[in-house]
Amino acid sequence: MSTQVPDSQTQTETETETEETPGDRARARRDAAREDRAQKEAAEESLEDEETVHLKVFRYDPEVEGKMEPRFDDFHVPFEKGMTVLDALIYARDTYDASLTFRHSCRQAICGSDALFVNGKQRLGCKTQLSELADPVRVEPLPHAEVRKDLVVDMSHFYDQMEAVEPYFQTDETPDGELEEQRQTRENREKIKMSTRCIWCGACMSSCNIAAGNNEYLGPAAINKAYRFAMDEREGEDMQQHRLNIIEQENGVWRCQTQFSCTEVCPKDIPLTEHIQELKREAVKNNLKFW
Ligand code: FES
Repeated sequence: MSTQVPDSQTQTETETETEETPGDRARARRDAAREDRAQKEAAEESLEDEETVHLKVFRYDPEVEGKMEPRFDDFHVPFEKGMTVLDALIYARDTYDASLTFRHSCRQAICGSDALFVNGKQRLGCKTQLSELADPVRVEPLPHAEVRKDLVVDMSHFYDQMEAVEPYFQTDETPDGELEEQRQTRENREKIKMSTRCIWCGACMSSCNIAAGNNEYLGPAAINKAYRFAMDEREGEDMQQHRLNIIEQENGVWRCQTQFSCTEVCPKDIPLTEHIQELKREAVKNNLKFW
C-alpha cells in the first residue's frame, strides 16, 4: 500500500518547520552574543600570547632642546587582559619615560580629560580596550588643536565656545522656599537626558571638519550644551528666546553640515547631530511670522 503524502500537505509541513518563532530569535541572539564573546576572548588571548603591545606615541616638547621636532616614540608594554590605552600609557610613562605627558584623572570615562586620537579616531584612552585595536597602536593628540606637549592640547578655544552658550541653568522664576528644588516632568527629563551626558572631552569638536576650518563656529559640544538648556522646561520664555538668539547666529547651528562625525566619536553616545538638527527646526519656527 502506498503511503505517499499529498504534495500540498508536505509543503504546509515544510513551511511550518521553517517559520521562525520568538524562541528561535532569542536563541539566535544568544548564539550571536556567545560568538561575539568568543571572538573577543580569542583576540585578547592572542594578545596575551604576544605578551606585549606596541605603542607608537606622538612626542613633542617645544621647551626642550632636541625634542622640538615632532616624532613618534615606540613603547612595548606588557599586555594584561582588560588593559586600556590609558593603562598602557601610564605603564610606559612610569616604566620607560617619566617625561611622557598626557592628561587623565578619573579613569572611568567621567572627567573627559583623556580624549586622544588613537589609530585614526578620537577616543577616550580610559574607555578604549587595547584588545579592540590593531597593533601597533598609534596614539596622537586630538587633531585641530594646538599641541602643548606630547599628547596634551590647548583646550582654551573649546572652553571659550562652551562658555559662549552660557552653560548653566537660568530661570525667570525661583521657588518660594529658598531650598526648594525646581522639579521638571519625567518626560522633559527624558528629552534632555542624553544631552546632559557631555563630559567636555572635546572629541566631537576635534572630529568636526567645519570647526576645523572655522574657528568661530560654536561646534557640536557647545550646541549640545545649548540644547540641554533650551529644551529644559524650567527656564522661562525670555530665556528660551535668548538661547535661540545665541544658537541661530551666523556661526551657530547653521554651520553644521550634518556630517555625523561628532556623533560617531562621542564616547557618551550623545546624538549630537540630531540635537543640532532639532535646534535648527526651533530656530526656523522662531523666525516664522504669521500675518
Ligand atoms: Fe577621565 Fe578618561 S580619565 S574620562
